[in-house]
Amino acid sequence: MMNMTEKTVLVTGGLGYIGSHTVVELLVAGYQVIVVDNLSNSERFIFDRIIKIAQKEPVFYQDDVCDLAAMSNIFKKHQVDVVIHFAAFKSVGESVEKPLLYYQNNLISLLNILQLVQENSVEGLVFSSSATVYGEPDVLPATEETPFIKALSAYGSTKQMGEEIIEMVTSSGVFKAISLRYFNPVGAHETALIGELPKGIPNNLFPYVTQTAKGKLAMLTVFGDDYNTVDGTCVRDYIHVVDLAKAHLAACRRIINQECQSASEVYNIGTGNGTTVLEIIKQFEATTDKLLPYKIGARRPGDAEAVYADSSKAEKELLWKATLNLKDMIQSSWAWENTL
Ligand code: NAD
Ligand code: WQD
Repeated sequence: MMNMTEKTVLVTGGLGYIGSHTVVELLVAGYQVIVVDNLSNSERFIFDRIIKIAQKEPVFYQDDVCDLAAMSNIFKKHQVDVVIHFAAFKSVGESVEKPLLYYQNNLISLLNILQLVQENSVEGLVFSSSATVYGEPDVLPATEETPFIKALSAYGSTKQMGEEIIEMVTSSGVFKAISLRYFNPVGAHETALIGELPKGIPNNLFPYVTQTAKGKLAMLTVFGDDYNTVDGTCVRDYIHVVDLAKAHLAACRRIINQECQSASEVYNIGTGNGTTVLEIIKQFEATTDKLLPYKIGARRPGDAEAVYADSSKAEKELLWKATLNLKDMIQSSWAWENTL
């Protein structure tokens, strides 16, 4: 086993929602960490909060990963062992309105990272993929063998293309890559010092729920109750962001310990549990003792009826398993909301 404390991990998008939680876990585990983030969807104070939690300071560059010259300079200054590439735009709806923006940011940043990883003898890359690559799976739970279906958004398309590009580039390269397909990341750090920072009115269920309970929004709309599920509302696999952060450490360890079975690997990162929207509402009310005003509305176009993961491959090969439950996810999101 390698000594992890000697290893340097460069984290793009490291001040974002999932990135900040991962940087904390890396620092606590003893890695040297370099964060690159252009603050397009984060705030500088997240950097101070990371230091407060971890009691250690990462190196920070406020740069755009699409700027190859700036990124090359960073790789010249530091010997990087593994890159975790979070930096991307992530709003499905916005990507339908502005597809080119999404292709430019999400693909050019990835191409730059691949070039720099290749040129600088980096051991490997961990890539943020998404369950969105499966669309609406025919068979549940979704395994890594579940086929991609044609993406309905430019966002989904960048994740499918991202995985395909990585597979091609690693097949003739000398470095390894692990793509992690996240299901629905929710929750916040137990200190309530870092969490998700949604801009404007949230699209995602969890921030919508907490902002409604807080009185910032009048009422939650449940998007459809006529699906073929236990209570008619959609089923998702919600995963605590701290469990998700730990999956990245497991992927780094696998690369550093040279345990990868192929140049490019993919793993589902979920809990394996499917939860409906109404179950989330009930659990939220029970956990927080707050009444959540909601109404049933129309289906949201593009929503899949049910998506949840078979994460047994990650358990077997990455030696990673989700440990936090829905109550932990709700409690931590609510505590974070109360600090905003
Ligand atoms: P986020 O927006 O909170 O974090 C992304 C970070 O990257 C932000 O801090 C942003 O400022 C930065 N960034 C974006 N483009 C950049 C660029 N060109 N150069 C430098 N910095 C840049 O998003 P997140 O929820 O933490 O997601 C992280 C990754 O995980 C993304 O790739 C996203 O597509 C993927 N993902 C997210 C979810 C989810 O629901 N949150 C689900 C599946 C996959
Ligand atoms: C969850 C459930 C909604 C809001 C998205 C992306 C996906 C991935 C994760 C990045 C659904 C319902 C929601 C509301 C509701 N991101 N809902 N009322 O759509 O599963 O996944 O985030 O890769 O690509 O598409 O997450 O949180 O938006 O919705 O009823 O106001 O909550 O219909 O069933 P989704 P979500």
